[in-house]
Amino acid sequence: MIWDTHAHLDNEDFQSDREKVIERAKANGVTNIINVGFSEATSQKAVTLATKYPFIYATVGIHPHDAKDTSAKTWDFLLRLAQNPKVVAWGEIGLDYYRDLSPRDIQRQVFIQQIELANEVGLPIVIHNRDAHGDILSLIKKHPPEAGGVFHSYSGSWEMAKELLKMGFYLSFSGPLTYKNARHSVEVALQVPEDRFLVETDCPYLTPEPYRGKRNEPAFVREVVSKIAELKGLTFEKVAELSSRNAQALFRVK
Ligand code: NI
Repeated sequence: MIWDTHAHLDNEDFQSDREKVIERAKANGVTNIINVGFSEATSQKAVTLATKYPFIYATVGIHPHDAKDTSAKTWDFLLRLAQNPKVVAWGEIGLDYYRDLSPRDIQRQVFIQQIELANEVGLPIVIHNRDAHGDILSLIKKHPPEAGGVFHSYSGSWEMAKELLKMGFYLSFSGPLTYKNARHSVEVALQVPEDRFLVETDCPYLTPEPYRGKRNEPAFVREVVSKIAELKGLTFEKVAELSSRNAQALFRVK
């Protein structure tokens, strides 16, 4: 059993062979996939995909890149989508100070607003954080997500990880953990408690070794599981089981 907790299968990169990619995931032991929305359109597509496949779940939310284009209509639309029983989280939401595609004050405002919406509908949140460690920490302290959340593709320090773990968050690992220059994430994966980590692909992005340079897909999440097993001195099966159990706990699915 393996849960790929963060995929973008609705992406046009999968347009020509989506069915095959999904079959390949199953053939490689990936039992469940969470397809993550990041805009109105992708949240809708995520829900449509999750409705079609029993083992695929969806999330809804607006990425910080698009924070500047939100309005009351956006929230009505997402709240309606969130009523679907296959929607297991609100996200990906957060702050991105690397690309700064929306003004930072608006990113912060829209992040807080979406934490409040997640609390209203009782969903955990999926957090995207790029170069915004300080502000993310202070905002989640002031506006805690009541059903918890996960830092997706966690790349911060162990110092910050300790604070997030204390607050009840999960940390999710992806392809970059397998790269030769991975330092922070290796240190975090070594030390993260067995009941608080998830695995993901973020496909079609962040392709793990040895497939780096190719399109990423859910079957490749095995490489992330292997790397964690190697680091923690556990078997592949054990890491698959732990991360799946953790995903079921956070997203409250059996
Ligand atoms: Ni993503």
